[in-house]
Formats: sequence, structure tokens, C-alpha cells
Amino acid sequence: MTNFTYSPEALNRLQASDADVFGALMAEETRQSDGIELIPSENYCFPEVYALLGSVFNNKYSEGYPGRRYYGGQENTDKIENLARDRAKAVFRADHANVQPLSGCAMNEAVYFALLQAGDTVLGMDLSHGGHLSHGHPVTNLVRHKIFNFVRYKSEIPSGRIDLDHVRAMAKEHKPKLIICGHSSYPREYDYAGFKKIADEVGALTLADVSHLGGLIAGGALKNPMDFGFDVMTTTTHKSLRGPRGGMILCKQQHASAIDKSVFPGMQGGPHMHQVAAIATTLKLAATPDFKAYAQQVLDNAKALAEALMAGGAQLVTGGTENHLIVINTATAFGITGDVAEHALDEAGITLNKNVIPDDPNPPMKPSGIRFGTPAPTSRGMKQPEMKQLAAIMLQVLRNPADKPLLAKLRAETKALCARFPVPGVTPNVAEGAHKAA
Ligand SMILES: Cc1ncc(COP(=O)(O)O)c(C=O)c1O
Repeated sequence: MTNFTYSPEALNRLQASDADVFGALMAEETRQSDGIELIPSENYCFPEVYALLGSVFNNKYSEGYPGRRYYGGQENTDKIENLARDRAKAVFRADHANVQPLSGCAMNEAVYFALLQAGDTVLGMDLSHGGHLSHGHPVTNLVRHKIFNFVRYKSEIPSGRIDLDHVRAMAKEHKPKLIICGHSSYPREYDYAGFKKIADEVGALTLADVSHLGGLIAGGALKNPMDFGFDVMTTTTHKSLRGPRGGMILCKQQHASAIDKSVFPGMQGGPHMHQVAAIATTLKLAATPDFKAYAQQVLDNAKALAEALMAGGAQLVTGGTENHLIVINTATAFGITGDVAEHALDEAGITLNKNVIPDDPNPPMKPSGIRFGTPAPTSRGMKQPEMKQLAAIMLQVLRNPADKPLLAKLRAETKALCARFPVPGVTPNVAEGAHKAA
């Protein structure tokens, strides 16, 4: 059997040079093929991405920006970075794009340092209500809190709606320089127009960190904050967008120079040009009708999964989902904390993560819930019937987390389901040594 994500020759070399890492690689391919990946921030990248990440662009230093580099030999790197920037601007309807941030946290830091002065206040979403660490959670005290003053709004329990009157009152009290919309575990759509209005009233800039939603916005399935006049939008490129790991900053023209200087030379040295090349191709693929259909299917699958789980007694923290992700309170409905649920589901071949629920009474390592989403199974081609089957497996696990024979039986069922939907670009069950024969 062959696997077209790597050249057989390179793989044979790896096997000869480092059998340990080769073995782990083969095992990881099998894990990703045989199990259902439901972590909502993970996905299977486009197969083209593997080709570029394993390419000679890895070898090139390109400090600076197209046409203004600190090293020679940039005719091809300039070309791919220009393509990536132009495609990003077109896909997200932005004046300017910076495609160099190495990853999500780095891109957000670059925005803070571009737009703010030390001591400025930032208003973002509370982490237990769905916000992200990089929006100023107190555990990041050592870094961000030394420089900026973060205050946090929350969502309403149990609906998950954000009370804009409350956000407005907080904005008037704290006078933030920057207001952030964005989350990593919030199953509702944001009212971007409402947030922008509040920001204008208090003279704040606006940032939407759509790291989870980038692909769904590119595919037109969710609203684009840039259409509502946001100053800056950040997104990771490896989640719903199906690209390489990376970050991207889109902004209005008036912030372009500050953002670019903040990324380089402010925060980073040489960009990862193999990553930038893969982002360029990802954005070309994200502009196709196929990707539009994919983005809508991600949402349809999330709804189907949520409905089937609720019909079986699961309690969703917001009572439903409007995007790709779902958070369940496992403590109330099933009497188990999220870590127990995560472990039992793992045994049944379903990977997701334990997660805090809004104002969780339990600690982060033993939280009250689990978080999961549909970008990865949708990339395999799964649709609503498979989501129903998946919900039935999950419900059995959540009701019987200690029943080992049942978990083993369900694992076989998960594997059989996965066998019908191969991971894009990865042929399942590639056995060690198979590459030699390829
Ligand atoms: C909203 C949000 N912002 C930023 C990040 C950070 O991205 P990275 O892990 O690439 O640094 C994440 C990652 O999950 C995220 O969900």
C-alpha cells in the first residue's frame, strides 16, 4: 500500500535513519485513520498542504516582506507570499493581510503590540464562557498581564447569549482601547454589528479572533466580522480552514504598517516559508465551490450531532449550536466529569477534550464538560447519517464509561465507520515497511 503524503524515498530514509520516530509516525497515521477526531480545533489538512510542508521552501530565510527582504534569492518566496496575501484579502474581504505569524497566540500578541500601549485596557470574553487564553486569562499573568489590563465579559447562562447592554456598561466603566470578539468554545454566533457599535461609542478598536471559524467564514457559512467594519481579524490557518499550522492577520489599511512592523521585526524573525506556501494554496482551495459546500456541511453536521445527543438526554451548555462546536455538561446529565468522559470516549475511538463550562464549579483538569466539533469528520466526507451513528456511540459511552467490554465493542464500531471514510491524503492501515515495497 502507498501513502501519497510523503515521497516513498524520503520515508524509506527516515525509517533507516530513525526507526523510533518513523514508528511513531506510522502509529499516528493509524490513530488518525482508525478513530474519529472531534477536537473542534483540529482538522485533516488538504493533501496539497503536506506537499508544501515537506518542500524546499522549508530551507529558505525570508526576513522582511515581498520586495523588501534582508536576504537574496527571493523570487519564488516573494511570489508565494504575494499570492497568499492577495488571496487572503480576497477571501476575507480585507484591505491588508499579514500571513507570517507562526501560530495563533503569536498573531494575537502581534496585534496587541501593534495597536496598544503598555497599561491599556482590553475587553475580551471570559475563558470559562468560551474565550481563549490569549485574550488575557489570569493564568497568562506572567506575560500579557504584565503589560496590558484585561477585563472580561461573560455569556448568559443557560442560553449562551451575550447581553450587549452588560458589555456596553463594562466598556463605559473600563474604557478599553480594544474590544475582542472571539472564542475557542462558544457555540453561538457573535453579534458583530452590536459589538462594533459599542466600540464606536467608547472609542475602542475592534479585534475578532476567528481562529476556530476561519474556514467557515471563508466558505460563507458564518458572518465575516470585516463586513461589519472591524479593525482587525485574526485566524489560525490549521483549524476549519484545513491549512498548515499558522496564523493570519487581516486588517483595515490604516493598521497595515503597524501590524506588519509588529509581526516583523517586532515579534518574529524569519517567516516559515513552507508554511506560507501552504497557506497560499489553502486559500486558493478555500475559494472554491467545494469548500463552500464543506463549510455548510460542517454546520449541518454539528446540528445533526447536537440534536441526536440532546434527544438522548445530553445537556448542551447553550441549548444548541450555531457553529461547528458543541459543549456538553457531562456532570449533570451523566454524573461524570469531563476527564472521565474524555478517557472513556478515547477508549471507544472518539477523540475530544474535557472542557470547563461557564462559571464551572470544578477545576480545569476535572471540569464539568466536554467540547467537540465537526470540522474533521466532515473533511472525511461524513454527513448527517454518520453524525447520528456517532451520537448513538457517544451516548452509550457516556452512560457506561466504566464498561470495558462495551467500550471495546464500540471501538470496533467506530473503526468500521472510519474505514468507510478515509482521511484525505492518508491511506489507512499503512503498515511499517510498506513504503519499501511502494
Ligand atoms: C480563539 C483562539 N485564538 C488563538 C488560538 C491559539 O492558536 P495556537 O495554538 O496556534 O497558538 C486558539 C487555539 O486554539 C484559539 O482557539
